[in-house]
Amino acid sequence: MPSLTRRNLMVAATGVAAAAVAPRIAAAQPAPAPAPAPAGPFKQEPLPYPANALEPHIDARTMEIHHDRHHVAYINNLNAIAKDNPQIAQKPIQDVLAKIGELPEAIRTPVRNNLGGHANHTMFWQIMGPGGGKPAGDLAAAIDRDLGGLEKFQNEFNAAGGRVFGSGWVFVLVGRDGKLALETRPNQDSPLMDGKRVLIGNDVWEHAYYLTYQNRRPDYLKAWWNVVNWNKVAERYAAAKAGTLAV
Ligand SMILES: [Fe+2]
Repeated sequence: MPSLTRRNLMVAATGVAAAAVAPRIAAAQPAPAPAPAPAGPFKQEPLPYPANALEPHIDARTMEIHHDRHHVAYINNLNAIAKDNPQIAQKPIQDVLAKIGELPEAIRTPVRNNLGGHANHTMFWQIMGPGGGKPAGDLAAAIDRDLGGLEKFQNEFNAAGGRVFGSGWVFVLVGRDGKLALETRPNQDSPLMDGKRVLIGNDVWEHAYYLTYQNRRPDYLKAWWNVVNWNKVAERYAAAKAGTLAV
């Protein structure tokens, strides 16, 4: 009896090896076309770089599945919720999340999960890019002042991300006084739900790294720094201090 490892299950689920596993079945029964996405007010921006731009640190297939399926699912769910609850799209995302407790109870948890997921991923694609580099200027000074310097900060960020049990995120917040702080959140929760501003965040759900790193989340956390776009992070820091940073 064949054993199904977690890897086999994931590969099968993502369709990567579908042709190799069952070519005759695939030929006889083509996969049904995906259901059309519900139209609505929530939209996804394309990736600001090609899906393979972050290789070898994040593989192209992971980026495609993550951006085109996982993130899209949150957006489709939001558009479905918005049909009967248009108020969730009538204010900026960060304002809806900051007052999530005021939403009708029936949609509070779905909005928390899906709008949190939409906000987190929108930020995540923005702050990555090929090329690496280092923080400079005001941002580098803030990292030195508030987080003990780049190396200490990265080690503590990686350790915090490694301690997230199950799925979640590790963030750097910007306080209203411009001070930086680390925070982790479970699931698709966001510091925006407490009215805070996010400078950066790393996705530690397995879908963010499993194809390349399998269970080695610490290796993913370490490699991720190679794809942080520090110019973009510096822009976000300036916007946070000016009070204009959204998600
Ligand atoms: Fe994700």
